Amino acid sequence: MRVLVTAASKHGATAEIAEAVAKGLADRGVVAEVTALEGVRSLAGYDAVVLGSGVYVGHWLPAAKAFVARLHAELVARPVWVFSSGPLGDPPMPRDVVDVGDLLRWCGAREHRVFAGRLDRHALGFAERAIVHAVHAPEGDFRDWGAIDAWAGEIAEALVGGGSDE
Ligand SMILES: Cc1cc2nc3c(=O)[nH]c(=O)nc-3n(C[C@H](O)[C@H](O)[C@H](O)COP(=O)(O)O)c2cc1C
Repeated sequence: MRVLVTAASKHGATAEIAEAVAKGLADRGVVAEVTALEGVRSLAGYDAVVLGSGVYVGHWLPAAKAFVARLHAELVARPVWVFSSGPLGDPPMPRDVVDVGDLLRWCGAREHRVFAGRLDRHALGFAERAIVHAVHAPEGDFRDWGAIDAWAGEIAEALVGGGSDE
């Protein structure tokens, strides 16, 4: 059982979630490989995929959408789990605003999970700063590592605990 974990990330927060998911899988005996989206040309050799993206103005990053378009035929042939990272604050807001319904149906994802994200104003460009200022987005790291690890546990259980149809 070999799982690809990959994510589109503009400022690194979502990439670190992908790494945590891979570690959570590995801790439970599932071989997991973290690779940059752009470097994946084929899913040959992977039994399952965990795909994520940071959320920007209600949408996934273009690299994640392109990944689904490029590898669609291979994605539908495997179990796929999907996550989005974006909501900020305590409690994290906004919830459930990412518009990925069609994408998820298209790649036959088993589940879509939304995780809180991280915002560091200093890392942003001018336009991004203007947007977060306009919506009063709170600065900070709101990622819930416990929830992320628990999700990795659920995926591992589905894959090796009899929940997989592979
Ligand atoms: C310009 C901008 C727009 C954002 N829009 C959203 C949004 O619509 N919904 C959301 O949940 N998070 C939004 N966020 C928060 C990011 O998704 C969050 O900071 C995420 O952790 C960034 O991930 P990354 O570091 O992997 O790029 C936005 C952040 C910025 C800077």
